[in-house]
Amino acid sequence: MKRYFFLLIVSLLFILGQNRSIYPKSKDGKQTRHNVESLLAQMTLDEKIGQMVQVDYLAVKNNEDDVRKYFIGSVLCGGSSDPIDNTPKSWKELYDKLQSIAVGTRLKIPIIFGIDAVHGHSNVDGATIFPHNIALGATHNIKLVEKVGAATAGEVKGTGIQWSFSPCIAVARNERWGRTYESFGEDPQLVKKLGAAYIKGMQGKSLSGKLSVLACAKHFLGDGGTTNGKDQGNTECSEEEFRKIHLPGYIEAIKADVKSIMISYSSWNGQKMHGNKYFLTDVLKNELGFKGFVVSDWGGINQLPGDFKKQIEQSVNAGLDMAMIPNGPGRKYNYLDFIKYLKELVNENTVSVSRIDDAVKRILTVKFELNVFEKPFADNSLFAKIGSKEHREIAREAVRQSLVLLKNENNTLPLSNKLKSICVAGKNADDIGNQCGGWTISWQGESGKTLSGGTTILQAIKNTVSPKTQVTFSKDGSGASGADVCIVVVGETPYAEGLGDRADLSLSAEDQEVIEKAKTANVPVVVILISGRPLIIDKALINSNAFVAAWLPGTEGQGVADVLFGDYKPTGKLPHSWPKDMQQIPINIGDKEYDPLFPYGFGLTYK
Ligand code: GLC
Repeated sequence: MKRYFFLLIVSLLFILGQNRSIYPKSKDGKQTRHNVESLLAQMTLDEKIGQMVQVDYLAVKNNEDDVRKYFIGSVLCGGSSDPIDNTPKSWKELYDKLQSIAVGTRLKIPIIFGIDAVHGHSNVDGATIFPHNIALGATHNIKLVEKVGAATAGEVKGTGIQWSFSPCIAVARNERWGRTYESFGEDPQLVKKLGAAYIKGMQGKSLSGKLSVLACAKHFLGDGGTTNGKDQGNTECSEEEFRKIHLPGYIEAIKADVKSIMISYSSWNGQKMHGNKYFLTDVLKNELGFKGFVVSDWGGINQLPGDFKKQIEQSVNAGLDMAMIPNGPGRKYNYLDFIKYLKELVNENTVSVSRIDDAVKRILTVKFELNVFEKPFADNSLFAKIGSKEHREIAREAVRQSLVLLKNENNTLPLSNKLKSICVAGKNADDIGNQCGGWTISWQGESGKTLSGGTTILQAIKNTVSPKTQVTFSKDGSGASGADVCIVVVGETPYAEGLGDRADLSLSAEDQEVIEKAKTANVPVVVILISGRPLIIDKALINSNAFVAAWLPGTEGQGVADVLFGDYKPTGKLPHSWPKDMQQIPINIGDKEYDPLFPYGFGLTYK
């Protein structure tokens, strides 16, 4: 009997603990400021420094109690740091487990949990994978991008997580860059509009909303402007040019009330942004009035000169508020050393207490605004949002509106869904992993059936045609002769960040051969390009009757068939100038000499 009574008390305490905060509800800015000040006044230096630490889950996986012991302020799962499996249930359980450890501290300050939901909640198997930002850029549709941000937030909150490292508002100026697809495009005006829309969608009307997620504008500043498009490279230009191209997105993001900003690995004229006090503090916080907090990139401070302690001093004094630390005890640049060195720096007065207090106040303010003190745990009523039909429809709409028709000889498109025979070819026709691209389930993404659900382009075609239509598939294009049309789906395979940097963006020989083979079969050839950027397509274009840039559409390949068979007209417009050859890159709208294969904003539609 005693045992049951004990269990009853424990479960009652747990239920009460679920939503009982020891702080008054932050109903307005004044109450929030009061809560922050009164909490800060109670905090020890260790508790303050702990709030400035974000650890990767794999770094604490075998010593989870460190989250409590060191008062850790945030946990993230990097691109490939996942719970036991990638199911929504495992993610929610991981979140709640770490949160229950965090609120076990003296002051019960909850963590905020960060994830790269950069095209949907893309680590999670079963989530809706939306088109990557380059495709959203091709829609030029502010309202739609806001809807995508809101739907992504709903799926993230379904797992309890309340912080996403998105949107990337890079202005990608050189398509050699492996992160071109994470940007909305080359035009600062387009990037600022879509970035702000995404933030509004993700954060909702108020950060305390049950479906709201803290957005993170990244990577500040100039990540997309590096020489030769080298990832984490050096953006070399005047301050005027730097501001003109790369700052508008952040000005608009701050107007949209973004409350976290991530620092870029890249440099400006040779100085790493992670140590650039002028831009991180004088410009971002003082001139632009950014009131949220600044987070480093993954081990970003360790690219600064000097030893770990020197790197911490430089970055925190430059304006870093929270350090994203990938490593745990026993590894270089681990979170225990970060805490030790930062404490030493404060005790030596090399980093002032006021700088620490400023960082902690920024972090706590966002936590109160997120209502995470009041509701620290996952809201089970949101779990069904993950991969919901409603969200998949939004993603399918985004796919449709992202397609850019570059060529349509003799109105080859739209196709009739009553054709006798359709040959589908190419390595990307039936590959959900290639269709989603990087940052999908794992950091780099992967070819093949890497996630459950989703519709490949081949499946979408089969779903659309009449039962009498014969649809054949061959990766190499064989068997096309005699068909009414051959649809060839080619392009890139998944990559992320610097591993996607390319000196040559020509279509692969394999892809060229498939198109040529289809061409020699003497049937109309429709090429669909799955890629994270414009590629060099001169020969492919000549050998095709119709050519569609489909970018990285994600799980809802049905959106491609919707346009191929004319249920919807193509409306996409290029978010990048399309180069004739590699020598032309970088080529951007506004260049003095501007003669691309297709200009920025180009896109055909159906008669
Ligand atoms: C990566 C990326 C950044 C991402 C972070 C956490 O290196 O640069 O965009 O949010 O690490 O995964």
